[in-house]
Amino acid sequence: MIQTAALLMIVVSYVISEDYCYTEPHCDPYAWGDMFPSCHPLLEEHHSPINLDHHMARNESLYSLHLEGFDVIQAGHWTLENDGHSVILHVSGGMSVSGGGLPDVYHTIQLHFHWGGPATNGSEHTIDDRRYPMEMHIVNMKSIHPNVTTALGDPTGLAVLGFFIDVVYAENVHFGHISQKLSSVAYKGQTTKVKPFPLMSLLPKHNMSQYFRYYGSLTTPPCSQAVIWTLYQVPIYISWSQLAQFTSQIFSTEEDAEQVTPLQNNFRHIHPTFSRTVSMSKDAKWLSGAAGHIHRSAGSLLPLIIIILGVFISRL
Ligand SMILES: *[C@@H]1O[C@H](CO)[C@@H](O)[C@H](O)[C@H]1NC(C)=O
Ligand SMILES: *[C@@H]1O[C@H](CO)[C@@H](O)[C@H](O)[C@H]1NC(C)=O
Ligand SMILES: *[C@@H]1O[C@H](CO)[C@@H](O)[C@H](O)[C@H]1NC(C)=O
Ligand SMILES: *[C@@H]1O[C@H](CO)[C@@H](O)[C@H](O)[C@H]1NC(C)=O
Ligand SMILES: [Zn+2]
Repeated sequence: MIQTAALLMIVVSYVISEDYCYTEPHCDPYAWGDMFPSCHPLLEEHHSPINLDHHMARNESLYSLHLEGFDVIQAGHWTLENDGHSVILHVSGGMSVSGGGLPDVYHTIQLHFHWGGPATNGSEHTIDDRRYPMEMHIVNMKSIHPNVTTALGDPTGLAVLGFFIDVVYAENVHFGHISQKLSSVAYKGQTTKVKPFPLMSLLPKHNMSQYFRYYGSLTTPPCSQAVIWTLYQVPIYISWSQLAQFTSQIFSTEEDAEQVTPLQNNFRHIHPTFSRTVSMSKDAKWLSGAAGHIHRSAGSLLPLIIIILGVFISRL
């Protein structure tokens, strides 16, 4: 009896110490390195996420990736899961990504989300220090690997496609395939079936050649430095209510937990790029808001302002 109790305590403390979180100091992203050495910022230098800015070099050989099977309806069914850290859509086979500087073909295995709170943004990567409301990650595994464990031991084992999610007034009907199912996975451990739909319908399909590229890590433990990151410049747009379904209706606790905790701010802090090269694809643009852009438009407005002033003064 005593032995069983002691064993139970060991098991329980093991499970607790192994789980990570986002908002409690003893298990938040700054403490991950204590539990998972490869998350330690001083032991490893190629962490994710990072800030993307306009000092990046353009790489003229980075064209659009080839997204195989993204524009058709796959057979079988997909599964949406709340694992207590995110909402994950596990997809069946049939989809893969290649090209765009990737060294191999990568099979698509799942996609998941990172978000903030009702009044705060929660993308993992930032652009010019701006954080978007959400970020979606499509995770792809190099085809030579039998499972994720072996892929995590390969510096280019995973290719993750990251999409910023921004908010507008209009509902995104395609995103509804996921957001309408969220109430079935409100609590940790819950899963529900999702009818496959063309993944491409979620993506900014006219702007898939505009992206950033760098080598980094998983943004969740064990933070393995095994990821080729592709961050698309043009966001996916969803409505305020679709965003709110993530920020206030998903919980990091189980349904029967004594204290219910909303799952919020499930993003890791920004890491230094150190000596890494961060590139922009051939077609990447500088979006409005970047310093260079403002400078140029002010320059082209100046003659117009002078003309208007001249007309105004001559009328006096
Ligand atoms: C440009 O991208 C290609 C494909 O990923 C890569 O082989 C090459 O080293 C990159 N060039 C530079 C200057 O980073
Ligand atoms: C948060 O996102 C909103 C909507 O895109 C944006 O207007 C705002 O500037 C962002 N806030 C920060 C602090 O990045
Ligand atoms: C992953 O594949 C390797 C090599 O085939 C195997 O040794 C290992 O047990 C597998 N791991 C899991 C978790 O399936
Ligand atoms: C998206 O692509 C279209 C078509 O190429 C282009 O006209 C538009 O400027 C791009 N949007 C952004 C924000 O770069
Ligand atoms: Zn992620």
